[in-house]
Amino acid sequence: MSRFSLRTAFARTPNPLSQAVAERHARGLSVLDLAETNPTRVGLPLPDADLLARLPASPFLYTPEPFGLAPARAAVASHLSQRGSPVDAAHVVLGASTSEAYGWLLKLLCDPGDSLLVPAPGYPLVDVLARLEGVHARPYRLPAVHGFGLDVEQVEAALDARTRAVLVVNPGNPTGHFLHEGELVALADVCARHGLALICDEVFCDAGWDTEAGRVTSVAGRALPCLTFALSGLSKVAGLPGLKLAWLHVGGPAHARDEALARLEDVADAALSVATPVQLALPALLAHAPRFQEALLARVKGNRERLVQARPADAAWDVVPAHGGWSAVLRIPRVPGEEATCLRLLDEGVRVQPGYFHDFGGGAYLVLSLLPTPEVFTAALGPLARVLSPPAG
Ligand SMILES: Cc1ncc(COP(=O)(O)O)c(C=O)c1O
Repeated sequence: MSRFSLRTAFARTPNPLSQAVAERHARGLSVLDLAETNPTRVGLPLPDADLLARLPASPFLYTPEPFGLAPARAAVASHLSQRGSPVDAAHVVLGASTSEAYGWLLKLLCDPGDSLLVPAPGYPLVDVLARLEGVHARPYRLPAVHGFGLDVEQVEAALDARTRAVLVVNPGNPTGHFLHEGELVALADVCARHGLALICDEVFCDAGWDTEAGRVTSVAGRALPCLTFALSGLSKVAGLPGLKLAWLHVGGPAHARDEALARLEDVADAALSVATPVQLALPALLAHAPRFQEALLARVKGNRERLVQARPADAAWDVVPAHGGWSAVLRIPRVPGEEATCLRLLDEGVRVQPGYFHDFGGGAYLVLSLLPTPEVFTAALGPLARVLSPPAG
């Protein structure tokens, strides 16, 4: 019998919900899928198909550069600089995905057994990525009373001797709450005092649907007292997850930043993972991003409004307030609870996600993607309101 690592010993039993979805598909029954988060499947604008045929140089010539080709890094620096602080291309590292960038940062910062503090509720893949690096993802709570915003005391309370870094997802997935200036300053201070790095996942930062004052749009280029990493990529910025290009910006005190870059160069050099064609196309792909973001914002804002309007005034459920992101969170009655409600909705042909995928840690919640077309989203709202507010008696 071969031996395998504990870090790949993931539970493989499908949960009752994914079983029910598979059965429904097997029976040929349709689903109004409010768990759809793939931006290429919901009719949002794609770049011109011939963009890849008009590359500025041959896609077949290979120039291995651990951090990526200079024009592509410069395009990312100029994209990030539009968020407020000037960004130097020398501090930009290209990778194949944000997930890969997480892996690189965990290799850079943590030894096996060390820990990364992660927000809860949060983005579930981070636990998997940490585990694959032998790192513990220790949750710090985003309190419901703060609308799932950051509470720096919760971060400090979750620290232990093996903590090496703190993750902030800005705006939160799935809660859509932005980090605010005062919170960033307090958090960076905690990180500096404890010698921790701050990792800021900013993949949804363009998807803010109001002009709330004081929100942080990016930590890239900011003068913060701790080693700071800002992560994003084409997946959410241009709605192109299949092109496999993401970036990470390294910032913070010059000595720590330069040491981090020197070490990251070895990590990136071991993989050289970004394909040449997408790097050559990056300036044009980033030029397409505003068109995608405009359509995306109209979509998520429109669907959110439809959802809020579908809620009867006396409903026992609420749409949790948020300022951005691709999802909506519903607070629902504890009885019958998340899974039973998801299964009832599926019987009515509507798929949503239970809050427990995201570790809400109390209460009962559903998570809905705001990406589906208005037709699909609207069609799902009738069954949703019926299942969530059954007639009395
Ligand atoms: C918060 C967050 N970070 C990162 C990612 C992954 O991005 P990528 O496709 O670049 O790996 C996702 C994907 O849904 C996400 O929600």
